[in-house]
Amino acid sequence: MPIAELRGVTKRYGPVEALRGIDLAIAPGELVALLGPNGAGKTTAVRILLGLAAPTSGQATVFGRPPASHEAKLRRGALLQVAKVPETLRVREHIELFSSYYEKPLPLAETVAAAGLKGIDDKLFGDLSGGQKQRVLFALAICGNPDLLFLDEPTVGLDVEARRALWARIRGFVARGGSVLLTTHYLDEADALAHRIVVINQGRIVAEGTPAEIKTRGASTGLEDAFLTIMKDTTQSVEEVA
Ligand SMILES: Nc1ncnc2c1ncn2[C@@H]1O[C@H](COP(=O)(O)OP(=O)(O)OP(=O)(O)O)[C@@H](O)[C@H]1O
Ligand SMILES: [Mg+2]
Repeated sequence: MPIAELRGVTKRYGPVEALRGIDLAIAPGELVALLGPNGAGKTTAVRILLGLAAPTSGQATVFGRPPASHEAKLRRGALLQVAKVPETLRVREHIELFSSYYEKPLPLAETVAAAGLKGIDDKLFGDLSGGQKQRVLFALAICGNPDLLFLDEPTVGLDVEARRALWARIRGFVARGGSVLLTTHYLDEADALAHRIVVINQGRIVAEGTPAEIKTRGASTGLEDAFLTIMKDTTQSVEEVA
């Protein structure tokens, strides 16, 4: 049974068709990278799997349950693209608060260490740098010791060292059997981490495969080149889309 699944999912926002029939399944222990240009529908897919938005048609399940169910919520963690938490709480307080929602949270020290927050856990969230804030959001995603992580552009604003450290932590999470749905615009990140890449464009899945398989779509060996070729081959004009 897949850990998380979208079946024939469409999502319409007024005139905008954000998703046009998506089938996506994440297997236990699998890291799937969802790639696509701005507005492709990546965050919409994540929000539906988190139960934050309802599909217009089709079905979403997480651990075989509705995404908004208590069972699903207890077993997943999420780092959302534009997440905000109160500026006036300390890092430690945020982690303690989020940990209290879960039945078997990680010990505070473990979360602090795993998110690279040692030494700044006493600071107010509002006093942190952009990259430090991003690490706190990662801490809040993992503190509940989830089986499934949704990471929507998790390394935006991180310096090179912090990004590599986060990759190592994501790999560690997967090595312990966790599943991940990751979105990113950094194709080297998808290449480094993903078992499988799913490319979405204008609300449709237009390519899918291992990083090596996706790379064969380009003229050179790089993932970026393949991505641009896939976009060129699959982008429809406004009239075609309508
Ligand atoms: N709450 C909303 N109300 C109206 N339109 C929305 C809403 N959320 C998303 N959309 C629209 O749906 C489309 C897909 O947006 P989405 O955020 O899923 O894209 P994305 O692939 O995550 O893009 P990005 O790479 O910029 O994060 C866009 O056209 C966006 O404007
Ligand atoms: Mg997005």
